[in-house]
Amino acid sequence: MLKINGITTRYGTVEILRDVSLNIDEGEIVALLGANGAGKTTILNTIIGLIRPIYGNIYLENKRIDKMKTSEIIKVGISMVMENRGIFPDLNILENLRIGSLYEKDEKSTNKTLKEVYDLFPILKERENQLAGTLSGGEQGMLAIGRGMMSKPKIMLLDEPSLGLAPMLVDEVFEAIKRINNEGTTILLVEQNAVKALKIASRGYVLQKGQIITEGTVKELKGNEVIKKAYLTI
Ligand SMILES: Nc1ncnc2c1ncn2[C@@H]1O[C@H](COP(=O)(O)OP(=O)(O)OP(=O)(O)O)[C@@H](O)[C@H]1O
Ligand SMILES: [Mg+2]
Repeated sequence: MLKINGITTRYGTVEILRDVSLNIDEGEIVALLGANGAGKTTILNTIIGLIRPIYGNIYLENKRIDKMKTSEIIKVGISMVMENRGIFPDLNILENLRIGSLYEKDEKSTNKTLKEVYDLFPILKERENQLAGTLSGGEQGMLAIGRGMMSKPKIMLLDEPSLGLAPMLVDEVFEAIKRINNEGTTILLVEQNAVKALKIASRGYVLQKGQIITEGTVKELKGNEVIKKAYLTI
């Protein structure tokens, strides 16, 4: 469904990603693992069109997207939940969610998606009118995921959704991701919490200093001694 073919990305003259290829099939949850600074966020930023690759290309289904604008990439079916969550603190929950469906003209369809978000995260419904800036970290995390759902993406890019959350909330967020996936959305999940990520993913890639060093099924990754030592020990 999403094919990233040999992308190389630079910030200025510094090469951040080198010849990175990823392949995500419809319906999958794929984990992207790697240490701080490995380039995980840069991969997501490149997919969503915030950074342009200097080599390589990216396809969603059969459409080439690496030259498209971010707004167009969202319209063809990709949404991104950013690492810093990117919510608007001075807008309330409902207003933040509606920003996620800016490109949806059909009000009925928007309301249906909104209901799905509220079913998944009832707390957002209860707090609908609360300013997002006053939400707890966990609630903000849910709001960010909810907003990512509002554009009805075919594939959702999640950048460290568990960051800064208490263990109980981490489980809740991972449960929500699984449910979103069960309802038909493909997921690319960036996580430092490799143990948890590999619990819900079917496959994974490991990025090191801008290059994919290993890929495989969860079983293969868990059986890989290097991966075990570097990412799966607590
Ligand atoms: N705008 C930028 N200008 C210059 N260098 C950048 C910029 N953004 C990121 N980098 C560098 O690119 C490298 C990869 O960063 P990136 O944010 O993709 O890593 P990451 O794997 O997401 O790390 P983390 O787990 O800490 O979020 C880092 O060395 C970072 O300093
Ligand atoms: Mg990052």
